[in-house]
Amino acid sequence: MLLEVQNLTKIFTSGLIGGYQVRAVDNVTFSIKEGEIVSLVGESGSGKTTIGKLILRLIKPTSGKILFKGEDIWSFDKDKLMNYYYKNVQAVFQDPFASFNPLYKVDRVFDLVFRTFLKNVSDVEKDELVRRALESVGLNPREILGKFPHQLSGGQLQRILIARALLVEPSLLIADEAVSMLDASTRIDVLNLLGEFRDNHGTSVIFITHDLALGYYISDKIIIMYRGSIVEWGDTEKVFDNPLHPYTKMLLESVPDLNVKWEFKGIEPEREEGKVWELKGCKFAPRCSLAKDKCWKIRPEPVEVEKNHWVACHLYGGS
Ligand SMILES: Nc1ncnc2c1ncn2[C@@H]1O[C@H](COP(=O)(O)OP(=O)(O)OP(=O)(O)O)[C@@H](O)[C@H]1O
Ligand code: SF4
Ligand SMILES: [Mg+2]
Repeated sequence: MLLEVQNLTKIFTSGLIGGYQVRAVDNVTFSIKEGEIVSLVGESGSGKTTIGKLILRLIKPTSGKILFKGEDIWSFDKDKLMNYYYKNVQAVFQDPFASFNPLYKVDRVFDLVFRTFLKNVSDVEKDELVRRALESVGLNPREILGKFPHQLSGGQLQRILIARALLVEPSLLIADEAVSMLDASTRIDVLNLLGEFRDNHGTSVIFITHDLALGYYISDKIIIMYRGSIVEWGDTEKVFDNPLHPYTKMLLESVPDLNVKWEFKGIEPEREEGKVWELKGCKFAPRCSLAKDKCWKIRPEPVEVEKNHWVACHLYGGS
């Protein structure tokens, strides 16, 4: 197994004296095989980016473990950590502007990769590698190289970052809303590129998105998150063909339809923060029309309803 996330929990404490706590990731368990593309889907604040950051070792879990090729990532010494960061795991985040220094030409983002990993590559070969990497994400190197970040669009900057991440040929790519700012046709090109890259290099991808359609398009497995917890996961086709959790159904029903116009449908159910986090039972109960007494009292355990399709909801058994 490439990556195993075991009972991962991250609690953030905000505010100074008597601050409040946010259970951003709550007892999350999943694993990713070599060459697998797994989508993490959920609404804003459901903990997707926090999971990405935990896997990248940018923040420490409150409890639980992350094993990479069987080794706890927090047990890595300096060398293993360097290797983990640059060779094994690469990430592309939503906001490309944060990754570029406005004072330097965009070419500079490739320097670190060459300094760290491709030390023995000649200048001519480096230029060729960068050129090919840029072309693979649909960019014309002549229009990109030598430019400053403010001279390029967000979509172009994002594709440069994707090109850089893939240049390393990582074992795992974490793409956190990485295609959200691309226009529709470029987005499909980049998704196809990720798929091809997986096929050619065996790279696994954690594809973080709000967009169910993108998750469906690209992934082998899908994980649906709600308020820090996984509520349903499994083979993408199974989850889409037979969505079981009331939240997954709600997400699928709320995908905009081309021939339906937006209309106000009334006030949302109770979603007050502290209250929901403190719930003993199912976190979705305040929004669930099917909530029973038991739902408010007992947190549903995941149940395998068919092979490779799990759901955590009392409607499908479990404790
Ligand atoms: N450093 C932090 N300190 C305090 N709370 C945080 C911190 N980072 C995230 N959170 C909280 O943790 C929860 C999960 O945040 P996260 O960014 O992981 O969500 P997300 O699913 O990526 O959302 P989005 O789709 O908007 O990017 C949110 O309630 C967020 O406010
Ligand atoms: S456990 Fe109960 S409240 Fe939660 S989603 Fe299932 S039916 Fe709804
Ligand atoms: Mg996020």
